[in-house]
Amino acid sequence: MEWTQENRYRPYSEWSNDYVKDLKKRVDASSWRTNYHIQPETGLLNDPNGFSYFNGRWHLFYQSFPFGTAHGLKSWQHMASKDLIHWESEGLAIVPDSIYDSHGAYSGSAIPVDEKLFLAYTGNVRDEVWERHSYQLGAWLNGQGEIEKVVEPLIQQPPTGITAHFRDPQIIRYEDEYLMIIGGQTDNEKGEVLVFTSQDLADWQYQGPMKIDEDLGFMVECPNLLFIEDQTLLLLCPQGLDKSVLDYQNVYPNTYILADRFLKEESKLGNPAPQQLLDEGFDLYATQAFTAPDGRCLSIGWIGLPEMTYPTFDEGWAHCLSLVKELTIKGVKLYQYPVAETKQLRKSCEKFELDSAEKMIKETENCYELQLEISANNQGRIHLFSDKNGEKALTLSYDTEQGIIRLDRSKTEYPLNPEFGEIRESAIERNQPLTLTIYVDSSTSEIFINGGEKVLTANYYPAQHQKKLVLEANNKIQILYYELEK
Ligand code: FRU
Repeated sequence: MEWTQENRYRPYSEWSNDYVKDLKKRVDASSWRTNYHIQPETGLLNDPNGFSYFNGRWHLFYQSFPFGTAHGLKSWQHMASKDLIHWESEGLAIVPDSIYDSHGAYSGSAIPVDEKLFLAYTGNVRDEVWERHSYQLGAWLNGQGEIEKVVEPLIQQPPTGITAHFRDPQIIRYEDEYLMIIGGQTDNEKGEVLVFTSQDLADWQYQGPMKIDEDLGFMVECPNLLFIEDQTLLLLCPQGLDKSVLDYQNVYPNTYILADRFLKEESKLGNPAPQQLLDEGFDLYATQAFTAPDGRCLSIGWIGLPEMTYPTFDEGWAHCLSLVKELTIKGVKLYQYPVAETKQLRKSCEKFELDSAEKMIKETENCYELQLEISANNQGRIHLFSDKNGEKALTLSYDTEQGIIRLDRSKTEYPLNPEFGEIRESAIERNQPLTLTIYVDSSTSEIFINGGEKVLTANYYPAQHQKKLVLEANNKIQILYYELEK
């Protein structure tokens, strides 16, 4: 299928059942389908949306184009879970079927209100001359799983001085009103985070852009404002962020700004720290987070990036979501670590110790969790998705003496956008012991350094024979290996 404009924006009702059946067959034949990461049944998944807790279950939606791996006509797919680990599909939730979302039900958020869940999203519309129009829209999900769209837009048009790149509303309750945080772009192509307020979710007032003394590129996507303990956290995706501000190699970065507080009257962050990368790996974007009723701040991201090509495109599916992570602040640092519930995935545990100059080779099914304790003054390499000796693999090397972690995905039969670099590096404290938690799942991996102080997320597509885990070190490492549920 050629993804012409016509094919990408074809109404859902015009895709035949036979077409979808064939597509599903192709998808099912893939050897790269994930075991415990949320993935699309068919077609393309991108941003997580509407992450929330409502009516006794966790709810999560995602951006979906079910008919192929193009960024076509987007809808919201709905997943629900009792434990944040096992998710069931609830089917399509928001479909692009109104005059305000005719070219895509784009990203947004959810907030429980009385007996219902309120969904806020962006309606993407292209007019006759293919000019973009963006509307901020609402919908209600009731306890029976039925969706009712709010007929008229919550916000009809971008504020003066903002282009039609105006999307991804996050609604939160703040003090005695609702806040809506929206990503935008000024007429002179600067990224901004726009703030609206409302008493009743119907009538919205523009408060202006959040004053942020940082480069935010040419457009901010998916902004999220959160309050963790007594700190304020802003998550964002500043497209085109100046690389002199922050060193990154991915096409677009997912970043954060940690601040002492949010000054609503002035619409600014109090005492903000410099912007930082949320993930130092290859493939994380559009992270969404919310504060759960139990007080935890939970996040989830899209493991994938816009504008990149992945080998599953030929198999009729693309991308997955990250594990659900808990966000905490320790000292002045943000930590991200899989929620405690993730332990439920563990099936069996093996314990090893690796001594200097040894090599450990383990047969796996590319579906496991590793916990490594590495001493200071240690250099070694961990080959994930490895062939028999670590020549073809996703290789994580570390040097605790020099304080460097390096992730190399160049040794592969399926190179991934090498023009954006095939190595990522992360700095750690020198001469300190290091702990690593690594999740491997068929074609994706999530690496957590020192309990979540840093994260590197990376897709990697192994050939059939790349099923080993190979470890090399010149000093002691303690290893816990858990096979995970399929
Ligand atoms: C980010 C994004 C959002 C938009 C959505 C469309 O990946 O571009 O800004 O709402 O994806 O699918």
